[in-house]
Amino acid sequence: MTLRPPLHLRCAGTSLVLDLPDDRFPVVRHWGPDLGEVDGDDLADAARAGATSPGANTAWITNDLPILPLAHLGWSARPAVALSRTDGTAFSPHPAVFAHEQDAEDGPAGTTRIVRSTGADPVHDLTLGTEVRLEPSGLVRVRAWVRDDRPADAEGADLVVGELTPVMPVPDDADELLDTTGHHVLERRLVRTPFTPGARLRESWEGRSGHDAVTWLAAGRAGFGWRSGRIHGVHLAWSGNTRHLALNTASGRRLLGAGELLLPGEVALGPGRTYTSPWVVFSWGQGLDALAHRSHAWLRSLPSHPSRPRPVLLNTWEAVYFDHDLDKLKVLADAAAQVGIERYVLDDGWFGSRRDDTSGLGDWHVSPEAWPGGLEPLVEHVHALGMEFGLWFEPEMINADSDLARAHPEWILSDGAGGAPEHRHQRVLDLAAPGAREYLYGAISALVERLGIAYLKWDHNSPLLATGHEVADPVAGRPGAAAVHDQTLALYRLLDDLHERFPDLEIESCAGGGGRIDLGIMERVQRVWASDCIDAHDRQDIQRGTALLLPPELVGAHVGSGRAHTTLRDLDLDFRAGTALWGHMGVEWDLTEADESARERLASIIALHKGLRGLLHSGLTVHADLPDDDALRIEGVVAPDGSDALFEIASLGQLLTWPASPRPLPGLDPARRYRVRLAAPAYPGLGLRAGWMDGGVTLPGSYLSATGLALPVLHPDHLVLVRATAVD
Ligand code: DGJ
Repeated sequence: MTLRPPLHLRCAGTSLVLDLPDDRFPVVRHWGPDLGEVDGDDLADAARAGATSPGANTAWITNDLPILPLAHLGWSARPAVALSRTDGTAFSPHPAVFAHEQDAEDGPAGTTRIVRSTGADPVHDLTLGTEVRLEPSGLVRVRAWVRDDRPADAEGADLVVGELTPVMPVPDDADELLDTTGHHVLERRLVRTPFTPGARLRESWEGRSGHDAVTWLAAGRAGFGWRSGRIHGVHLAWSGNTRHLALNTASGRRLLGAGELLLPGEVALGPGRTYTSPWVVFSWGQGLDALAHRSHAWLRSLPSHPSRPRPVLLNTWEAVYFDHDLDKLKVLADAAAQVGIERYVLDDGWFGSRRDDTSGLGDWHVSPEAWPGGLEPLVEHVHALGMEFGLWFEPEMINADSDLARAHPEWILSDGAGGAPEHRHQRVLDLAAPGAREYLYGAISALVERLGIAYLKWDHNSPLLATGHEVADPVAGRPGAAAVHDQTLALYRLLDDLHERFPDLEIESCAGGGGRIDLGIMERVQRVWASDCIDAHDRQDIQRGTALLLPPELVGAHVGSGRAHTTLRDLDLDFRAGTALWGHMGVEWDLTEADESARERLASIIALHKGLRGLLHSGLTVHADLPDDDALRIEGVVAPDGSDALFEIASLGQLLTWPASPRPLPGLDPARRYRVRLAAPAYPGLGLRAGWMDGGVTLPGSYLSATGLALPVLHPDHLVLVRATAVD
């Protein structure tokens, strides 16, 4: 292995030191805190400093571990690349001729530093490649690719790709892992596990990132928290099948990696064809908040990120479900406008024969039965009230009982032996089948244009199980072959095409709630529906888990009716609205049933949100590490310049001790003084008030972040909002 001086890339408090050897892909010497003004020559001995046993092959690879570790280098743990030709050859790729090049790209948030590497394997007629990007946010994004180099006229023995899983090393003291899991109506619960020898493998086999998505698979020293501990994490920016890996090897190296989970035979390359992995995203931080800020900053730098204030919306689902009645929906629109709603979204049930969930999916034309005068009377009414109009779709799904299924049975994904299982009476439409994507594009575009739709809620309720192509797609599909990979790319293309045609159209990613939230879809949507659970008590957890990846302005958060539909829990309006206020706020409640005082109260909290959304939707999210986390939450947003902050102090249960001692307000600038006061009136149910609640206090940020404030005695499922404004 010949080494030139390593490359030192720096950004946003992050240093990434890469060796670019002549016999392997880049070797990560350091990924973490900024090393300061040191250049490659200063780091020339980094490889020798890490080597302990130069004679042994396994030590060699352990110390010089590339982002694609391979067996021929002496790597005896799980290799990063799994592939072979159909005749069994090329099972152990052996790239031998390497080239590395550096590049840079300027964007709105700064400069991205890029390293592209190729490793040709002339013996097996293939080339592997990697691309490493250090983004201005300090996020590291890595992808890999493989190309079949056989001449165009070569026959047989296609290259079947099993996986490409780039990895990055994490410090050897990382002995605890954190990720998220969950299910429908309970997404993104934090889970901690010891990082013991062996692998923690988190996979999605359901053709979407899933309700149990890992969000980040993060590693750190046991006990790390929101504000403390050095933590490294990995996330796959992909909305199909995924694999996340934390590997603690016998050689002592601890690695994080991720890749697309490819089904058997799903990607088979012919001569000249290339498979490129999704982006594998790596973040690190001192505390989970800092790790999350990197993905927040990256998302905020994307051209697709919403640039105007997030309109407060009303969604009709839990208000009327499938019961579409023009008069009722107009009265609901009146009530919505009265409380300050800015966007009115008509949910499921407006099209085809869709009067319940058993039929009509796929028939994307307005139902003359439910809407004899078309949607225009409602849309015009909504527009006349000064609100935008949004509409629900579930484009990738199809009911067997639909005109579309009768006309195009070959567009339904199947296992070739009777079909995939139905979920919620639905099957999956093959977006890669010739004509299918074009049909959806045409049907959706026509409605967007005709009705002046500002927003699509894009649902996706069924997992993709046993889903193969029925027909050959001209580019990639082979009849009978697994189709999740093609489906994911075709979805991205459809979303991209719609955005190109309608640049102002906003799209929400919903998959039975939060079943498709990942950094792949987030390049194409402006909101996610975090969960079908609107119960504010559970939402506190769901929103906290989602905040690991997404900033608040992208996370749909609704005020539901007094009794939560999914849990039957009864909660005060102040707590429901005070919880929804933290995201892209909305209402999902039959306001025609709400009494006047509830509507007035809701209107006042929506007005409060509107006054705060500039701060909420641009600030840094912060969470206090509290000993009684199950019962108490203190979290908030702090303006990037530290001049302003909003916190919630939320009680989710009874504290074991009473009264609680002072608790910190995290993330304030230690060098400034803040005036701290209640941002919302004290709630009627409030017990003992804390001294600072009467008129506020002025204290240094250092004191507030370290020691903080005495707490009021909050009943379970109540919260107060606290504003901290810098006074100097
Ligand atoms: C599942 C979504 O998560 C709900 O919000 C709603 O849109 C229903 N689908 C409609 O069928």
